[in-house]
Amino acid sequence: MSPVDFNRSGIRQVPDPCVVVIFGASGDLTRRKLMPSLFSLVCEKLLPDEFSVVGLARTEMDNDGFRQKIHEGIDSHGRLKPKDCDRWADFAQHIHYHQGEYDDPATYDGLCNLLGQIDQEVGGGCNILFYLSTPPVLYAPIIKQLGQAGLAVEPEGHWRRIIIEKPFGHDLASATQLNHDVHHVFNEDQVYRIDHYLGKETVQNLLVFRFANAIFEPLWNRNYIDHVQITVSEEVGLGSRAGYYDTAGVLRDMFQNHLLQLLTLTAMEPPAEFNATSLRDEKVKVLKAVQRIEPEGVGEFTVRGQYRTYRDEKGVAFNTNTATFAAARMYINNWRWRNVPFFLRSGKALAGKVTEIAVQFRHVPHLMFPLAPGEGLPANRLGLCLQPNEGILLHFETKLPGAGMRTRSVDMSYLYEQDFGANTLPDAYERLLLDALHGDASLFTRSDEIELAWRLIDPILQGWDSEHAPPLAFYESGTWGPSKSDEFIRTEKGRKWFSICTEC
Ligand SMILES: NC(=O)c1ccc[n+]([C@@H]2O[C@H](COP(=O)([O-])OP(=O)(O)OC[C@H]3O[C@@H](n4cnc5c(N)ncnc54)[C@H](OP(=O)(O)O)[C@@H]3O)[C@@H](O)[C@H]2O)c1
Repeated sequence: MSPVDFNRSGIRQVPDPCVVVIFGASGDLTRRKLMPSLFSLVCEKLLPDEFSVVGLARTEMDNDGFRQKIHEGIDSHGRLKPKDCDRWADFAQHIHYHQGEYDDPATYDGLCNLLGQIDQEVGGGCNILFYLSTPPVLYAPIIKQLGQAGLAVEPEGHWRRIIIEKPFGHDLASATQLNHDVHHVFNEDQVYRIDHYLGKETVQNLLVFRFANAIFEPLWNRNYIDHVQITVSEEVGLGSRAGYYDTAGVLRDMFQNHLLQLLTLTAMEPPAEFNATSLRDEKVKVLKAVQRIEPEGVGEFTVRGQYRTYRDEKGVAFNTNTATFAAARMYINNWRWRNVPFFLRSGKALAGKVTEIAVQFRHVPHLMFPLAPGEGLPANRLGLCLQPNEGILLHFETKLPGAGMRTRSVDMSYLYEQDFGANTLPDAYERLLLDALHGDASLFTRSDEIELAWRLIDPILQGWDSEHAPPLAFYESGTWGPSKSDEFIRTEKGRKWFSICTEC
């Protein structure tokens, strides 16, 4: 498979006839993301005619009630809405609701009957994609029941797969236990641990940018790169997520998954092929090479912060020490990256919703242009912008017109929207659902990968819980975090944080 057509291959053909069974289907994710994504795929004719959805949850609802709820969700949140495509009436007939308790074997007996009925009437009932869209505490009990009902066993010539939502575990021990519970019922090649960040077009474009262009790869190492910054910031505060967030905090919510995923994609060696095994093998090698920040070192390598009004949020303890902001300096101990710092930061209630990777190149080794004493020239910088403006930006020096040899920094920028138009980027869930239906796990997290990521986060969490913890630095909402974060990056050669993509 050539790297150029990797994200198109498999998309032109439709997956096998199948059924998607969503657990927790009365919830927010199903209404806002999963069903709108499936409907867009239907409209794009990317799903087979023999395709059905079964929503399963405890809430009392009949098929019509569920279809109505889904219609409203698609209307409000879909990329393609019922008015944009004439497939809704037909699609609605293939949506079913099954009410039941998640730990009751009778629920699964009823599900088996319904799947048999769908298979007879429409077809596709033997290929099943289970989607766990419930609170994480229910993952293991549901998987156990699926095992006991024989629903994980693949009949001859058919497949059974399972997508598991994030968060996958709360720490290394719980993630390992969950992997154990999953593997008791499903083989690893049936399991798709989702991190929707990997479904974003621009995250995949990072792979194309690096491995389908020859010009940057020779520079992509310690000889030419001074450091790398990865920022994933949220403008919103806690919202209604107090119950989850106050026990999780920013390291579990953002670093263990999104930031480490972006780090591995930025730092990994070129895989020989674009397939799940090669890609994930390379990502795992990076995670193994990342130097662990030990509990005693958290004061030196991390910053932790909390926005000032966090303790006033509903559902949060008045004296909570949960971090809503973190910055970390990480090193990758291999030939390519030795001594190149990777600065990672993420937080809530910050100045903007931004996801970007800034690659700061080194200064030129010798400057022949006359400059005033103490004056220098900025080094080149590359911005890979994932959000809000998806694109790529290169910062370089140019000559100011006129006499003399004065220079100025300028940008060469490429915006997705300009070339491909607005609203053409499929939602991440569209891409990932379709990949799972095709049996392509490249953009899903493997069991060893998730455990290695926790292995890096656990000691920081332990350090933050100990006498070695850096002081909790408070920051105003709408800023870029605590001033400690600026000091933290400045102590290293006077560097500073960039906000490169808001300039895109
Ligand atoms: N929403 C998002 O944008 C988003 C993004 C990334 C990841 N996720 C993950 O995706 C999963 C689903 O998200 P969601 O926002 O849809 O969750 P949700 O609305 O809180 O829960 C989904 C459904 O699970 C059932 N449920 C909730 N609490 C329960 C409990 N304590 N005991 C038993 N059942 C319970 C409810 O259905 P019944 O009561 O009808 O059974 C609920 O409708 C979560 O693991 C979340 O972390 C969500």
